[in-house]
Amino acid sequence: MRSAVIGVGTAGSIHTAVLRERGSLCAVCDIDENKLTGYKDLPAYTDYKKMITEQKPDAVHICTPHYLHAEMIIYALSLGINVLSEKPLCISREQINAVLEAERKSDAVLGVCFQNRYNKESVFVKEYLRDKKVISAVAQVAWHRTREYYASGEWRGKYATEGGGVLINQALHTLDLLQYFAGMPEKIVSNVCNLTLSDDIEVEDTAVIQSAGGAGITLFATNGASSDMPVTVTVRTEDGLIYMIPDHVYINGAEQNLTETYAKKLGKDCYGSGHSLLISDYYRCLQNKEKFPIDGAEASKAVRLVLAAYRSGGKTVVV
Ligand SMILES: NC(=O)c1ccc[n+]([C@@H]2O[C@H](COP(=O)([O-])OP(=O)(O)OC[C@H]3O[C@@H](n4cnc5c(N)ncnc54)[C@H](O)[C@@H]3O)[C@@H](O)[C@H]2O)c1
Repeated sequence: MRSAVIGVGTAGSIHTAVLRERGSLCAVCDIDENKLTGYKDLPAYTDYKKMITEQKPDAVHICTPHYLHAEMIIYALSLGINVLSEKPLCISREQINAVLEAERKSDAVLGVCFQNRYNKESVFVKEYLRDKKVISAVAQVAWHRTREYYASGEWRGKYATEGGGVLINQALHTLDLLQYFAGMPEKIVSNVCNLTLSDDIEVEDTAVIQSAGGAGITLFATNGASSDMPVTVTVRTEDGLIYMIPDHVYINGAEQNLTETYAKKLGKDCYGSGHSLLISDYYRCLQNKEKFPIDGAEASKAVRLVLAAYRSGGKTVVV
C-alpha cells in the first residue's frame, strides 16, 4: 500500500510518522512549503490534485483544516482512491450529504480518525457495555486554549473554516465516544457561549449538550479552563457506574485490568495513543476487504450532534 498525506501540520506529522514506521509513506502535500522541509526524501507537492494524479497512491490521509475535508474526500473517492480523513468528517449538513453520496458511488473506502475509540480504556468500556443497557453517560472536556493557539492557524476560530469551536474540534472525540457508548440521541438541547476568548475568536469556547429521549447523554466542554484536565466519562448502567479517565477504568469503584496495547503516544497527551492503532486497523481492513468501522455514516453522527447543538440555542432540536 502506498499512502500520501495532505496537510503536514500538527496532525499530519503524526500520520506521516506512523506511515514512515509502516514503510508506506510515498508522498506529502502542503500549501505551506515550509512544512515540507522535513520531507526532502519524498516527492512533495503544494497541489493535492497534482500529487494524486502523479503518485496514484492507494490511500490519502487528509489532515487539512476542517472546511477542506469534504472537497478533498469527494475528489479522492471519485478517483477510486481510499481516504482516511482527520476529524471532523466535514462541517455542514450539505457536506455530510455530498460526502455520503460520494462514498456510496465509490469502490474506495472512507475512514475517519476517531482514534480515541482505540484507546485501551475505550475498548474496555465498549466491550463491557456489549450486553448492557446504558441509562446515562456524562463527559467533561475542560481544556485550556489561548489566543496564541488560535492565532497559530488562519483557519482556527472561524465558522467558515473551522466550522465551530470546542464542540467541532477539541470535544468532538468525546462526543463521539458518548454516542458510541450510549447510542445516538434523536433530539438534543444545547447552549454554547464564549467565556474567555470573545475578543479573539467568533466560535464558542464553551458548550453544554443534553440529549432528549433515549439514553441520556450529557457533555460539558470548554477550552476556557485554567489548565488542561483529563477528559472524564461516566456511564451509568442498570447495575453499575463506570468511570473512565485516560488509561484507567473503574467500575463501582474498582479499578479494572485493561489489556495493554502497543501504541506509541504521538503528539499531545490529549490525542491519546490510538492514532497508530486506528491507522493499522484501517489498512488491515483495506487489505482484508473488511468494513472499516468508522465510515462516513458513523463519523457523521458526532458532526450531526454538533450542528444540532449550534441550531439549538437552548431549545430542543431534532438531530
Ligand atoms: N485526531 C486528533 O487527535 C487530531 C489532533 C489534532 C488535529 N486534528 C485534526 O487534523 C486537522 C488539521 O489540524 P492541525 O491541528 O494539524 O492543523 P494545522 O494548521 O497544524 O495543519 C494543517 C495543515 O494543512 C495545510 N493546508 C491548508 N490548506 C491546504 C491545502 N489546500 N492543501 C494542502 N495542505 C493544506 C496547512 O498549511 C497546514 O500545514 C483538523 O481536521 C484537526 O481537527 C486531529
